[in-house]
Amino acid sequence: MPAGVPEPSGAPFDPAVLARLATELFSALPGQSFAPHGAQAPGNIAPPGSPLVSPAGFGPGVPGTPIPQGQIPGTNVLPASPTQVLSLGNRAPALLPAAQAGNGVPDKVLGAVPAYEPRSGGALLGVPESLDAGRPQAGASPYYFLNDVGVPAAAEPAGPRTDLFPSPPQQSGLSAPTSAGLPAAGAQPSPPQYYFVDSVVLPSGYVTPAKPAPHATVPLAGGDRHPPFDVHAVRRDFPILQERVNGRQLVWFDNAATTHKPQSVIDRISYFYEHENSNIHRAAHELAARATDAYEGARERVRRFLNAPDVNEVIFVRGTTEAINLVAKSWGAQHVGEGDEIIVSNLEHHANIVPWQQLAAAKGAKLRVIPVDDSGQVLLDEYRKLLNDRTKIVAVTQVSNALGTVTPVKEIVELAHRAGARALVDGAQSVSHMRVDVQDLGADFFVFSGHKVFGPTGIGVVWGKREVLEDMPPWQGGGNMIADVTFEKTVFQPIPNKFEAGTGNIADAVGLGAAIDYVNKIGIENIARYEHDLLVYGMRQLATIKGVRLIGTAADKASVMSFVLDGYSTEEVGHALNDEGIAVRTGHHCAQPILRRFGVETTVRPSLAFYNTFDEIDRLVAVVRGLASQRRKG
Ligand code: ALA
Repeated sequence: MPAGVPEPSGAPFDPAVLARLATELFSALPGQSFAPHGAQAPGNIAPPGSPLVSPAGFGPGVPGTPIPQGQIPGTNVLPASPTQVLSLGNRAPALLPAAQAGNGVPDKVLGAVPAYEPRSGGALLGVPESLDAGRPQAGASPYYFLNDVGVPAAAEPAGPRTDLFPSPPQQSGLSAPTSAGLPAAGAQPSPPQYYFVDSVVLPSGYVTPAKPAPHATVPLAGGDRHPPFDVHAVRRDFPILQERVNGRQLVWFDNAATTHKPQSVIDRISYFYEHENSNIHRAAHELAARATDAYEGARERVRRFLNAPDVNEVIFVRGTTEAINLVAKSWGAQHVGEGDEIIVSNLEHHANIVPWQQLAAAKGAKLRVIPVDDSGQVLLDEYRKLLNDRTKIVAVTQVSNALGTVTPVKEIVELAHRAGARALVDGAQSVSHMRVDVQDLGADFFVFSGHKVFGPTGIGVVWGKREVLEDMPPWQGGGNMIADVTFEKTVFQPIPNKFEAGTGNIADAVGLGAAIDYVNKIGIENIARYEHDLLVYGMRQLATIKGVRLIGTAADKASVMSFVLDGYSTEEVGHALNDEGIAVRTGHHCAQPILRRFGVETTVRPSLAFYNTFDEIDRLVAVVRGLASQRRKG
């Protein structure tokens, strides 16, 4: 039995008593932060008993020392204390000490989780020394790879890039954000102030209590005061990244399809069901109040994440598809008529084509398409020609899911408005990679899915301008969205409830709030910068392989490295990668029109997130290179 793990029996103390004493001790220290370096998530203090913080006086942990998440059973970093063990109860296996192995943790899981070892070789971030020379250097154009693959050099990036990797890797994980939004597990649930940093006026009129703003030391808005980005620390927050597939450690390059969840999100959802679960907005009891506060707290987090002016402009839906359907079915039904025109781009996901096509068919309207150039970027001049006084709405993606193109949405929105049209921006593929400010974009609608930004599936958002939303009829009718019902007439709730008929996905909205906390903690600018370097590196490496054709080489790209390989079907490449534990999507990516624009029906689509490494790209490239060197045909 590893040192520090309590004896299951015959222990010189009663673990339950010690747990209670620890909780009492903590309670006697109001306002005591256990994350002294500003690492604690805003608005949340994790007392002993939380799996996130080493409790005072027990085991090797020191008060104030965050415990890295996703730690490995049996390794020396997981503090073993009675409180810890008790509070972990039935939590994620990766958090359990080795002594718990027999208690329902599959051997596969335990065997699969290797000890974390910082990369040897390479200066930083897992870049092997031999390849270090190929890594983008400080001050270099981040787009230099474009020249290597024979497309025009791109413009400089918007933000300053003076020093790509200014700080050495940290030893500790970004564990503090894993407590984001999470009251202490096992502790008595606290009043609503745990869920809010600032006072928030809920749609019901209830004003949440303010809480001292810890952002004073850790601002949410990016920049220098975030902890330096350390990919290995970040990876420890994502337990699933320790999975093994076909004997190899999983490489998750299917982030455009869905992203993985940090422990904080997993824990936050569990906490909701353990301590807050109730329907919202109606029953006059404690759990209803907790659930309502948690849900509305998530809405406020989304508001801040998008820099929306008004929390009531944030509507929870199932995901981006439902969000676009809501706008097409409600706003579209009201405003689009015979002979009117709807503009989308050639890049769109089917979710941003089909609802508009259905609307056009129902109304006798026309769907018009902004073409793209050979790099996969929209042609603004062609777009200008499409706009006219019959244009009612322009719906475009901010980042293409199939090609990774970052479109000039701000300009597209502005041109739409000049033509008197509304504009919707599909942010499904953008929010996890770049800062989104809906006030700056100026669109009328912005939509995204929680699961693409490290939150749960089944939750997404429509943000809309207040005056536009208020003018729209409800889409679905039922409970929660009404103020008064008679058989003659129904009076609807104001926004956002008007658009949230029935019981929503409360727990997953709360999980999305925790995901946003997590992203804020790392800093979206840190994420964008690191991912960009990964993308440059990956594109450049793939481009060196004979027979690889990159599909989508726009100057401004995020995350996606679509390609085809001579002599192989995309499915065969996908299988070969899976054999090596590397997950990519192959197929049409629900974006057939844009693939056909490039003369293909399918591609292999590795797509990156901030927990990916240069090493993982090397693994991908090695497999593709291996296939290319044994080419059977073509
Ligand atoms: N929209 C998701 C993708 O691009 C499903 O894979």
